[in-house]
Amino acid sequence: MELNQIIDRFLEIYGGDKSDIRVFASPGRVNMIGEHTDYNGGFVFPAALTMKTTIVCRKRNDNKIVLRATDLPDVVEADISNLENYKDLKWGDYQLGVAYELQKRGYNIVGADMLYDDSVPHGSGLSSSAAIEVATAICFATFSNEKNGIKKELDMVEMALIGQAAENNYVGVNCGIMDQFASAMGKKDCAIFLDCKNLEYKYAKLDLKGKKILLSNTNKKHKLGESKYNERRSECERGFEYLKQGLPDKKCLGDISVEEFEANKHLIKDEIVLKRITHVIYEDDRVLKSIDALNNGDIELFAKYINQSHDSLRDLYEVTGNELDTLVDEARKIDGVLGSRMTGAGFGGSTVTIIEEGAIDEFIEKVGKNYTEKTGLVAQFYVSDIGDGGREILL
Ligand code: GLA
Repeated sequence: MELNQIIDRFLEIYGGDKSDIRVFASPGRVNMIGEHTDYNGGFVFPAALTMKTTIVCRKRNDNKIVLRATDLPDVVEADISNLENYKDLKWGDYQLGVAYELQKRGYNIVGADMLYDDSVPHGSGLSSSAAIEVATAICFATFSNEKNGIKKELDMVEMALIGQAAENNYVGVNCGIMDQFASAMGKKDCAIFLDCKNLEYKYAKLDLKGKKILLSNTNKKHKLGESKYNERRSECERGFEYLKQGLPDKKCLGDISVEEFEANKHLIKDEIVLKRITHVIYEDDRVLKSIDALNNGDIELFAKYINQSHDSLRDLYEVTGNELDTLVDEARKIDGVLGSRMTGAGFGGSTVTIIEEGAIDEFIEKVGKNYTEKTGLVAQFYVSDIGDGGREILL
């Protein structure tokens, strides 16, 4: 929805006038390359989208947080002195988890009437949950600072970490930091080269020499929590334990080079675990190579690494599945497509494709038709712009 419409809806629901309304927003993300590396202390290369969560809200004078969304009938009323007790909500747990994590860190949570509007499609693998978390963190942290008379700007990396903590501890999904970091720290037209070992980062202009980024949503519903995501994490932990026997100084898989891995991989006694670790080590290396290619203006080479990333996620990490593979296979048949891969956790969600602008219409028609024929699902396509990270929108 347009911001004016969200504000009108807020006023219809909560009454009052516009004068004391505040607006906060934070985007979803696309990860260009570096998948399932973040929780291994590796490299990622995500970018913030212009699709986002927008919160229109107003402070209250009591201890209540009231949550509503523009596309849901649910109304959640929570007591801020009791925030640990809302973990089982079907909707609202991300928001209250963030408020709870802020409170644990000493933030002064104030009551508020809130209306959420999400333009990141839910379950699309484009981090609708991180967008909600980071927007909520910015909102409550801003209100807390105002109440405490603190004037300094928010630390956006902290906002990302709080979003991740809410998802890990409150929602129960053991995700890494990539999504929240991209949502909080995104920058227009740039991707973020992030080292997840230490959160050091650099912006890199995502200059694709006129090519476009096309997102294709499988519309297969995936649920990270109950999926194989946590299983993959523990396989990586096991693999790292094997490798440590030969590399005792290493702190995480992200510390291990391709050469060190090749010299020690015989220590991994479990074949499945070996496949998973092979993906992580080579994917990490691909992030570095693909950024070099991008910096050299070699978009074809950049896109080649994108293709390799998908193939590795399909064959070694085994998180793609029929829907994502079908979208990628069909995409690669279209003239004008340079590269295509799944983005995010996998098991459903979306793909990202680098494509000549002139090929987009044909892509949407042919890939859409063939995808439906092969899977029975209807895909959605978005030509994506790269936007800024989370912030307050001043009216
Ligand atoms: C999800 C998680 C991220 C990351 C990706 C896979 O999006 O939230 O932390 O692990 O999967 O790269």
